[in-house]
Amino acid sequence: MSQELKGQVAIVTGAGSGLGEASARCLSEAGASVVVNDIHQDEADRVAMSIVESGGVAVAIAADISQSSEVARLVSTTVDRLGGLDIMHANAGVERYKTLETTSDEDMDFLIGVDLRGALICARHSIPAMRNRGGGSIIFTSSVQATHSLPGCVVYAAAKAGVIAAARTLALEVGVDAIRVNSVSPGTHDTPMLTRNFDSYETDEALEVIESIKQANALKRIGTAEDIGNAVVFLCSAKANYITGINLVVDGGFTAVKKL
Ligand SMILES: NC(=O)c1ccc[n+]([C@@H]2O[C@H](COP(=O)([O-])OP(=O)(O)OC[C@H]3O[C@@H](n4cnc5c(N)ncnc54)[C@H](O)[C@@H]3O)[C@@H](O)[C@H]2O)c1
Repeated sequence: MSQELKGQVAIVTGAGSGLGEASARCLSEAGASVVVNDIHQDEADRVAMSIVESGGVAVAIAADISQSSEVARLVSTTVDRLGGLDIMHANAGVERYKTLETTSDEDMDFLIGVDLRGALICARHSIPAMRNRGGGSIIFTSSVQATHSLPGCVVYAAAKAGVIAAARTLALEVGVDAIRVNSVSPGTHDTPMLTRNFDSYETDEALEVIESIKQANALKRIGTAEDIGNAVVFLCSAKANYITGINLVVDGGFTAVKKL
């Protein structure tokens, strides 16, 4: 097994489920010590414990990443317990499918608070700790919805477009400190967030939608969570040493397909 991230310390936010969980597992398999963050302590504990059982180093730290004081505690506890911070995967995200007209101010604050402001808070608190290590890697989880529209996702799409712009711009501010900043844009991946979208569907209807999602990309399959975890490991690794300020689309060719 490759140990390209051996000696590095990573925080993955929202790692109690889905893409974050896969990212934490893949980073651990690549040799990193991992802090499994989630707003739900039990989910963070479950993932950290299973990484430790597989032979990795993992610590669960519950925190709400939309709260600056909690992110400060997340980073300082990481440095105290694991000796530093090299990688921040700001992955935690939330979605509420509503048209803009039916989106309340509370919905808007919640979505922007986690998906945009929360990601930026995570990056901001990580920079001094990474500077102390002589560099690092910050990765935001965006979405293909930042560039390819779906009705009912105005605020989510705006927040996800925001983190792409933030990665590009922050890369210019911290490149001098050897801190690289990128975003990754998943297409459609098999996670609890995806499954929740089908809660109100009849089984046949859900299967039909899933089939249409598969047919809408070049590879004719839904992405796995590990497809994103592997991309995150690549972006953190020395193989990506000259890559900063980009948005890496990992969508099975969904955005490459010409729409009629
Ligand atoms: N699954 C997909 O197809 C897909 C596609 C594009 C983008 N994304 C993005 O990928 C990321 C992960 O999505 P997922 O599918 O794994 O979702 P998920 O719902 O399975 O996991 C998200 C995790 O984030 C945690 N979380 C939510 N708010 C938090 C907060 N304030 N502080 C800390 N943790 C918090 C949740 O408890 C959950 O464990 C999100 O940013 C999402 O927008 C997912």
